[in-house]
Amino acid sequence: MSAPDPGCRCEAYVAATERAAVAAGRWRGRGDVHGAEAAAAEARKEALDALPIEGRVVVGSEEAEDVLGTDVVVGAGGDRVDLAVDPIEGATIVSRGDMGAMSMIAVGEADSIPRLPSMYMRKMAVGPPARGRIDLSRPIGEIVDALAEAYGRTPGDITAIVLDRPRHEDLIEDLREAGARIKLISDGDVSASISTAIRGTNDHLAIGIGGARQAVIVAAALRCLGGELQAQLWPTTRTEIDVAREHGIEDVNRLFTTDDLAHGEVIVAATGVSNSDLLRGVRYLADSARTHSLVMCTRHNWVKFVDGFHFFARERREEVRLLG
Ligand code: FBP
Repeated sequence: MSAPDPGCRCEAYVAATERAAVAAGRWRGRGDVHGAEAAAAEARKEALDALPIEGRVVVGSEEAEDVLGTDVVVGAGGDRVDLAVDPIEGATIVSRGDMGAMSMIAVGEADSIPRLPSMYMRKMAVGPPARGRIDLSRPIGEIVDALAEAYGRTPGDITAIVLDRPRHEDLIEDLREAGARIKLISDGDVSASISTAIRGTNDHLAIGIGGARQAVIVAAALRCLGGELQAQLWPTTRTEIDVAREHGIEDVNRLFTTDDLAHGEVIVAATGVSNSDLLRGVRYLADSARTHSLVMCTRHNWVKFVDGFHFFARERREEVRLLG
């Protein structure tokens, strides 16, 4: 175990995901994606501004006027860090009142987080037992067999998580042919990818085409958890190929590894907004909210689940409850 570094603020970042999750959870089921996003981003920014950092948002909102837009600098001043922020991963889930939304942040050393163009990526994420055994260029049947071998089980007991999108019809057919179980999700491939690296979720593979921004956060999380991500840009127009080149990616077929997308020391924090296999969503009580978070740090080499109580006022009637 590495010695604690007094300069490492890993546990402080969870306050920023907790605050955003508590703000976002209040918008659950209200049919307002933008309201939920704006509330989460405001709360997140306020929490980050209280930290002794000079944090540059490298992966943020694409809307220039957003409080956590790309290149915005947050913090009270101090250590220079790069930030990949996703105040709500699955804002549509929140607006629908569905399961599996989280608030997330990944923190890297200054100038370490890559600037990816805003487009789709083909991605494949697995947990530690399957690290080194995947290859995005191989047929999916071979991947499922490799996972079955890694986990010492039959292909029928391997679960693949896929975003429920028309673009994944062939992939789903191939997974069925390979014999894997499939869990279709409506949104949230970050949560799905992290699930593959945590035993007990019964998830083994997250695969398909999703956002590039999400790939950076997944890579950082899998660095902390010992899993693996492979990703490749998936431009759909000539303009997107040009945009990739403007970002310095000459070969749009380049395969990005976990380390390409997250190198150096990284910190990742995530708080559940609504329940998932991984985290419980925010529960609002009479004068408090209870949150469930995951915080991970490569420097300290730890992963912690955090059960948080957030009281709305100093004077209170409620008691802290045990886990459950
Ligand atoms: P946002 O919360 O940023 O909208 O992302 C939700 C998400 O489901 C991601 O997890 C996923 O990578 C992406 O959207 C998929 O994009 P699309 O909805 O366009 O298929």
